[in-house]
Amino acid sequence: MIRSVVRGTGQALPRRIMKNADFEGMVETSDEWIVQRTGIRQRHIASDDETTASLGEAAARAALANGGLTPDDIDLIVLATSTPNNTFPATAVEIQQRLGMRHGYAFDMQAVCSGFVYAVTTADAYIRAGLAKRVLVIGSETFSRILDWNDRSTCVLFGDGAGALVLEATEGAGTIADRGVLAASLRSDGTHKEKLYVDGGPSTTGTVGHLRMEGREVFKHAVGMITDVIEATFSQAGITAEDLDWFVPHQANKRIIDASAKKLGIAEEKVVITVDKHGNTSAASVPLALSIAAVDGRIKRGDLVLLEAMGGGFTWGAVLVRW
Ligand code: UT7
Repeated sequence: MIRSVVRGTGQALPRRIMKNADFEGMVETSDEWIVQRTGIRQRHIASDDETTASLGEAAARAALANGGLTPDDIDLIVLATSTPNNTFPATAVEIQQRLGMRHGYAFDMQAVCSGFVYAVTTADAYIRAGLAKRVLVIGSETFSRILDWNDRSTCVLFGDGAGALVLEATEGAGTIADRGVLAASLRSDGTHKEKLYVDGGPSTTGTVGHLRMEGREVFKHAVGMITDVIEATFSQAGITAEDLDWFVPHQANKRIIDASAKKLGIAEEKVVITVDKHGNTSAASVPLALSIAAVDGRIKRGDLVLLEAMGGGFTWGAVLVRW
């Protein structure tokens, strides 16, 4: 059977770093509160010349170089983002143009923080259906542009960045020993919309709007939803937490990550953590963490890697990949 195997990974971060202490004169908060409640110490914030398209392009170029590929080798780009450069056209098409690609096709996916997990699952389905051979899957966000910088309950939590993977159609035996995407579970439930949303949009206010979140409410649901979807993925693949080499969760809050790993029985040393350095970069958080752990040599060929995310909608999902 055809498997979607990872050929390369890459990441990009804005130049400017904003530390927790930098908020202290802006809103009533402290480095101590932010670290204790979230594990975040700093985040990268895009300057005017850095956009979802430019960061996505940089991550894509890094992933192509990492895989020894060029844009000519790619036939599809799937970009996960909730902060596109424009309402339309899709920012994926802008990235395609920036890469100098006149062939193939490109589109955006919108599942907020779960966007990358949705995008990998979609790219895998396209590859297995024979609709694409090599797919650039990108998560890129500039959440700093939709934050209310006077709202301390949200502005300290998010950051900007991008990560990318190249998935390639490869013949596999159809067993769990294959390299590539092995199992995936996606979920959504719109009854939770008001707990995490943006209060604007083309069809309602005609404005971009600002992020609004009832953090405590999101927190209350997060661990249960994350562990449910991971258990569904484990049973699909016929594995247990002990079989995993790496857990790469969505980086929203260190306490959510720790509680989920503990409930699932995933050892602490198998968990990739970047939330301290990047904050919550929404759809970019999983590919950023994944790329960093692959490039620094932690994730090696043959390792069994579990990706997970949960966010606005609510949307949530998990993907199991053998590297
Ligand atoms: O990526 C999408 C998914 N999103 C998430 O996973 C986020 C999930 N939620 C969370 O991570 C946490 O709920 C937060 C980090 C947002 C908040 O942590 P918490 O432990 O749930 O705190 P809380 O919302 O219960 O607030 C505790 C107190 C409140 O004051 P009172 O009502 O106890 O007087 C807040 O007003 O902390 C206050 N507070 C702050 N204090 C200092 C809220 N934000 C801040 C702040 N600095 N930045």
